[in-house]
Amino acid sequence: MRKPLMAGNWKMNKTIPEAVAMVKDLKERIADVKDVDVLICPTFTAISALAMETKGTNINIGAQDIFWEAKGAFTGEIAPNMLVDAGCKYVIIGHSERRQYFGETNETVNKKVKAALANGLIPVVCVGETLQEREANTYFKVIESQVREGLKDLSKEEAQKIVIAYEPVWAIGTGKTATPDQAQEIHAFIRKVYSEMYCCAADEIRILYGGSVKPENVSELMKKEDIDGGLVGGASLKADSFEALVKFSK
Ligand code: PGA
Repeated sequence: MRKPLMAGNWKMNKTIPEAVAMVKDLKERIADVKDVDVLICPTFTAISALAMETKGTNINIGAQDIFWEAKGAFTGEIAPNMLVDAGCKYVIIGHSERRQYFGETNETVNKKVKAALANGLIPVVCVGETLQEREANTYFKVIESQVREGLKDLSKEEAQKIVIAYEPVWAIGTGKTATPDQAQEIHAFIRKVYSEMYCCAADEIRILYGGSVKPENVSELMKKEDIDGGLVGGASLKADSFEALVKFSK
């Protein structure tokens, strides 16, 4: 049985006091939740404060990006062990906004995935097609190469630790969610591709759906066999809606 994971991607939102205030509220609201893993990925600047605030709770902290080198002359970058040091357990890698605005490729995703794993971080690797790719019917091919290239050359143990997030770019922040059937179709496809790469690890890894997930649609999505959680932007920014997402009912 795969334990669901509900992850909040806060993107470039919230100052440190704002982040701490929300987490103080959230941790009370979801204190009794045991059957869902909870993750918040704030900006780099708020990681350390939130790691302290969530110590001993059921809330995990993650980063939104990572660099693959261990140290040195890489102005502006953050090394894997620095994320661990600040209190991260997870890291989002290859989000479509990073692919779109910051030149992330399947190759850089793969380097980051390996560096994260080597430092004991759990990568949440994002894949997903653009509207153009969906309309041109090339989306299976696009997603397959994102999975095959971004997640290549892992050991058997490493392959079991990955989280994949399917986030159709046309559904992110647009209010347009993929239907549960559309999402399930891709999730099953990702699991099949992953099973060709890493055999039974594919049955163990969690595949999250992301793209306008909200309290109103989370239950329908979570009913699907291959949807193991959500990577949530907008609806993770308020304690009440994130609470509702974490406490989804099937
Ligand atoms: P959204 O963002 O929930 O605001 O659509 C999801 C994401 O980009 O991870």
